[in-house]
This record gives sequence, C-alpha cells and structure tokens, in this order.
Amino acid sequence: MPQEPAAIASVLQESRAFPPPEAFSRAAVVGDSDRHERLQALSREAPEVFWREVSRELHWFQPFTTVRSGSGPDTRWFEDGTTNLAYNCLDRHLEGPARNRAAIIWEGEPGDTRTLTYLELHREVCRMALVLSELGLAKGDCVGIYMPMVPEAAIAMLACARLGLVHSVVFGGFSSEALKDRMNDAGARAIITADGGWRRGQVVQLKAQVDAAAPSIPTLEHVLVVRRTGTPVAWTEGRDVWWHERRSLVGEQHEAVPVGAEDRLFILYTSGTTGKPKGLVHTTGGYMAQVFLTSRFIFDLKEQDVYWCTADVGWITGHSYVVYGPLLSGATVFMYEGAPLHPGPDRFWSMIARWGITILYTAPTAIRTFMKLGDDHPRRHDMSTLRLLGTVGEPINPEAWMWYHRTIGGERCPIVDTWWQTETGAIMIAPLPGITTTRPGSATQPFFGIRPDIVDGQGQPVPDGQGGYLVIREAWPSMARTIHGDHARYLTQYWSQVPGSYFTGDGARRDADGCYWIMGRVDDVINVAGHRLGTMEIESALVSHAAVAEAAVVGRPDEVKGTSVVAFVTLKAGRKGDEALKGELRNHVATEIGAIARPEEIRFTDALPKTRSGKIMRRLLRELAGGGEAFGDTTTLEDLSVLAALRQDDEG
Ligand code: WT7
Repeated sequence: MPQEPAAIASVLQESRAFPPPEAFSRAAVVGDSDRHERLQALSREAPEVFWREVSRELHWFQPFTTVRSGSGPDTRWFEDGTTNLAYNCLDRHLEGPARNRAAIIWEGEPGDTRTLTYLELHREVCRMALVLSELGLAKGDCVGIYMPMVPEAAIAMLACARLGLVHSVVFGGFSSEALKDRMNDAGARAIITADGGWRRGQVVQLKAQVDAAAPSIPTLEHVLVVRRTGTPVAWTEGRDVWWHERRSLVGEQHEAVPVGAEDRLFILYTSGTTGKPKGLVHTTGGYMAQVFLTSRFIFDLKEQDVYWCTADVGWITGHSYVVYGPLLSGATVFMYEGAPLHPGPDRFWSMIARWGITILYTAPTAIRTFMKLGDDHPRRHDMSTLRLLGTVGEPINPEAWMWYHRTIGGERCPIVDTWWQTETGAIMIAPLPGITTTRPGSATQPFFGIRPDIVDGQGQPVPDGQGGYLVIREAWPSMARTIHGDHARYLTQYWSQVPGSYFTGDGARRDADGCYWIMGRVDDVINVAGHRLGTMEIESALVSHAAVAEAAVVGRPDEVKGTSVVAFVTLKAGRKGDEALKGELRNHVATEIGAIARPEEIRFTDALPKTRSGKIMRRLLRELAGGGEAFGDTTTLEDLSVLAALRQDDEG
C-alpha cells in the first residue's frame, strides 16, 4: 500500500452541527425518521430486496429475476433483465405529468437560452439516434463525445444509450492528444463534437482539436458536428457530417433498443497512478438504479425544482448528476455553457436569481473562489429560491462550508457533502437532507446499502476516530465493472489491497457518531480543483518534451484549487533551465493533457531524491514544494547531497 494514512491524519476537530430544518424535513422525499429507519434496516439486512424495490419503479423490457449474482469484483446486478436508460429518462415520463415539464433549461455563455420539455428532449434524442444508426452505428460500438455544455451534449449521451452504443465523453478542456489517446483506447468508431463552445468570451475550437486527433485514430469513421458558435471549420468529406443537416432528414420516433442490465453503458477515463488513464466501464442496470435513487433521495428532487449541478458532462458528476440521475427522476435540469466568472464575478448568482434555481450542486474549489471574491456579488441577487446545496470533488474545508451555508444558503439550506468517485458511479456517502445532522467538512453517513469501513495497512479495521484507508465492504449496483482492456489492473488496483473489499485510495476517519471525514488521496494521485490527476501522467507529458530527462510531480496545498501542481525537472545534458523553458514546459503539459494539468511551478534540479531501489521520494518533494524543510526520515535516501542541493535551490 502507499503511504501510511497516519501521515495524513486529520487535525480537523469540528463540533458545529446542523440538524435539518423542520420545514425541510416535513416536505422531504425522505424526511420521516421511521421510514428512514425502515429503509435503512431493509438495505442492511436484505440489500437484494431493497434494490429490487427501487428498480421496480423503472421500466424493464424483460424484468429481471435475480437482483445480485457473483461477489466482489464479479458482482452482477439484475443480470437477466433488459432495459434502456434513455427510455427510462425520457419515454417513461411521457405518459405522466412530466411530459410538458422542462427537462433542460439551458443558458449559453453569451446569454442565449433554450428550454426543452421532456417531450422535446425525447424527440431530439430520437432524431440523433436515427442519425447515428443511419451512419451504421449499432449496439456495442463505441462513440466519443467531445462537446461544450450545450443540450446536444446530453442529447448525444442519451442517443447513444438509446441505441446501446457505448459512449466515452471526453472533457472539452482536454487537448487533442488526450482525446486521441482515449479514442484509441476505446476504439471509437465515431465522435460527436461541435464547431466550438463559448468560454470566457472566446470560442473553444473543438472541431479543430478533433481534426488534429482524427488522422491518428484508425478506428474513426464518422464525425458528427453540432453547430454551436458558427465558427468556420475544416471539413473532411465522407467523414464529417453536420447534425443540423442530418437532423432535418430523419423522423422523430425511434424505438429504444433493449439492452442487458450488464451491457456496457459508457467508458469514462480517469487518472490513475501510472501514466495511462484508466477507462472505467459502467454498465446499465445497476448504474441506473443507484443514480436514480441517490438523485431523488439526496437532492430531494421534486416537480417544482430547478436543479443545477455545475459539473461538465466530461466528468462522472456530469454523467450521473447532470444527465442521468435527474432525468430518471423527471426533474428540471439547469445547464450552463460557460465560465463561472464571465462576464462578471456574479454570473452564477445572477442565473440562480433569474431562473429561480432551487438546488445547487458544485465543487469546493468553486466555493473557495467565490468566497475569495467577497460577499457583495452574491448579496446583489435574490437567491431566496435556493433550498438545498451540495458539494463534491474533494474535502470541503469547514470555513468554505460555513461560507456556503451563510452567504449562499442564507442559513436555511441543508448542505449535502457527497463523497464518491468515477469508479463508484453514484454517491456513496452523503447526508439525507431531511434526516441527517450535517457537520462542516464531513460527508456524514453511507447511503442505503453501502458498507464503508476504515482499515489500517494490514487491512484490519481501526477504532473510530483513527485515520486509515477507506474501503467499501460489499459490492454496490453502480460500481465500475472493469477497466477497459485491462481487467487485471482493475483487480489489482481496487480489489487486491484488502481482499474482498473495494479499495478507494482515500484516507478517512469515522467519528463516534458514525460520520465519515474524508482526508483525501493516499496514492500518487492529486486532486486539482476537484479533478483527479495522476502525477505519473503529468510526468510522462513532461518527459515527452525534448529537453527533459526526468520529472517528478507533486501536489502543493493551494487555497483555491485545493492542490496545485509542482514539477521537479531534470534536464538533458546541454539544456539550460531558464524562465523561457519553464513557460514552454508548462504549455507543453497543457497541450499534452489539458490546461487543468498545467504545473503552477517548475523547479529545475540536477537530480531527484531517490531511494536505493530507485523510487523517487515524493514525500520529500511534497515537503519541499509546500515550503517545508524536508527534514523527515531520509534514511532510505540514496544520495543525501541531492536533497541539500534542492534545499539550496529553494533558498536561491
Ligand atoms: C476523488 C474521486 C465523484 C465526483 C467527482 C470526482 C475526492 C470526491 C469528495 C467529497 C472529499 C471527495 C476523493 C475521491 N472526493 N468527493 N465529498 N469529500 N473528497 O471524481 O475524479 O473520480 O475523484 O475525489 O478523493 O477519491 P473523481
């Protein structure tokens, strides 16, 4: 296992507690404590009965007869049932009151707006499904989605799900290199993209990035292009097709394709400890059940809500809680295209006031950014429609939590701090807003049927209050089933560290009340602005530059981003480490991976501190990067003079 979790022991002692407001509980989807206890007992004692009841609310073409089969990493859910996620998100609502309810309310960065009712969204999804099948795409094929945050991003995902195509959404902020690697790993036959998207008043040229990547993606046959910005784009006849042209040629009725519960729904790439991003594979039935229930229970979704999750569809949060979860619940989803501070620092608050948003789900990094900008911006807007707030992506500092509570929530909105991962597919630990007493900085209690535990380096449970590794004891419906093309890595990384349990890679402690306090990653993965980055990935990007011999990347605590990237770089003989090269290397990383991975700081050094076995001693580098002395245990360090030199550089 990686470093001892005691090394990241939390010093946080937080005693403030916020019971749910009575009026909130009275109206909540789960607000009655007797019902809560019954559900909890059932989910604990008979998880299969619990999940069977949940799934009965959804539509199955062929109803399942078994709920759970297999165990550990081989667990399958609803295995013999067939269903369709897009059908459940759309068709299922058309006979009821949601038919003419807004499914998506969208605002573009320039201020243009669109609203799609469930009926309209259904038609758009049918049209895109027809276009995709005319292109010859069929069940099991993989389709890349590389889009700005426009309704067509959700339409594309739903159209794929409707046809049983496996989508792989790549965040629009990733570079063409990153897109190429992911599309090749997934073997994508098509990419759905746009001419561009608006961000900070500029057009992000998505189609141009696809054009740059395409020649190196041998499996790619089609590029379906949505016109968003009207920017001129290069065109490859025979490969590229315009969505608006094809759309007008097809009908608007399409029968959803029944798929097996264990058929693949999507592949989503996330950073790991090696240079290669992992394509986590999620399947249909279990994912559907858990994102459905967590959305409804944790976000307390009701007809009259306007729910806004600020995540991009390129991340798991966008999959589960912008698109699938809320639409399964028949909710109204607000979607915003652009940058949070454009054209001014109050853009979010102005949208909340203008659209009457009732639920806001965002990341601690955004909250800290707003907190820094001061209270005047939110105060200028009437945000009294807000009734529930959420956070996700990294631990939230109690200060930021309190600011969110007071300044955004007006002290009346419960805050749901939701812990989960790309791998878990859906929320695992979070308050139920009508039931749980919240504490600033704690994700509180496990969701129904989820059994977390905290263990030491030997896999033994630790007493309450003590830090350790967070593991999940039993399989859950929305868990990733494998890493695309590398099942062995899936087994070793997640299921072999503590036999029989899922290893999360996070450190945590549980307090005497059973509340979980997440401390962050314990592996060589850092969390920058709520996004996981593998240090190896950034190192590989640096080493791919002609001047670089070796690189080590560590995280440094950052007030706003949580962690920022610091790179220690040794150069090839004859190369001079100057400011110009620093800039070049920073840009190189942005080109190779994307702007979020761009190192905040680059330090040139003649050598990196290594153990006798050649392993880079990141702990020392972390201490140095954080401005510390790196006087810790250096007994395994091969060459002490390396550290001395690094310290000198620091002073100089
Ligand atoms: C890692 C997963 C799942 C959504 C977005 C990130 C950290 C996530 C919390 C939280 C403390 C959190 C963990 C986790 N994390 N939510 N509420 N409190 N830490 O997805 O990129 O797969 O990253 O984000 O370290 O392992 P991801």
